[in-house]
Amino acid sequence: MTDPRESPSAMTSEPAGGFARGVQVAYRVALLVFLLMGAVQIYLAGLGAFSKNEHPGFGPHRGLGFAMAGVALVIVVLALLSRSGGRAVGVSVVILLLAGLGQSAFAALGENNAYMGGLHAFDGLVILGLAGFLLGTAVRGSVPGGGSGRP
Ligand code: HEM
Repeated sequence: MTDPRESPSAMTSEPAGGFARGVQVAYRVALLVFLLMGAVQIYLAGLGAFSKNEHPGFGPHRGLGFAMAGVALVIVVLALLSRSGGRAVGVSVVILLLAGLGQSAFAALGENNAYMGGLHAFDGLVILGLAGFLLGTAVRGSVPGGGSGRP
């Protein structure tokens, strides 16, 4: 039997083959893109707040937010296809729910309740933290000896 420390693919149950390898790279790229979109999203939230009801307002933030929900769906599919494990799939589904449903719910509730609006901003932090966790885990799993705690 293969020692997992000698083969990162054994640790992640990574199947051999170009397609599997390509899906794993796509999974990491999608997570990186999602995180970069998140950074822009924070900027666009500030842009909206300082627009003071004038152009461009929150329109760009809303648009990118919906696009992020789409990318979150892609990440779920890639987490499944890349066999990244049950935890990765579960966390990616949580990200999809928080980005696709949670953010719209908190934004809508925030219209009448500022405390709920505050949760929208906090939820954004949670979403990006979870995506960063997934990317870190995926990258460590692809590096020989990564995450083993050994020198
Ligand atoms: C990952 C981070 C974030 C994501 C994915 C996100 C996503 C979204 C989405 C999808 C909407 C539209 C909701 C709808 O109309 O159904 C929205 C609206 C909004 N977001 Fe965010 N958001 C994020 C972070 C933030 C932050 C950090 C703030 C403020 C500090 C913020 C403030 C707002 C506000 C005020 C609205 C309402 C805009 C309006 O009424 O047109 N968001 N966001």
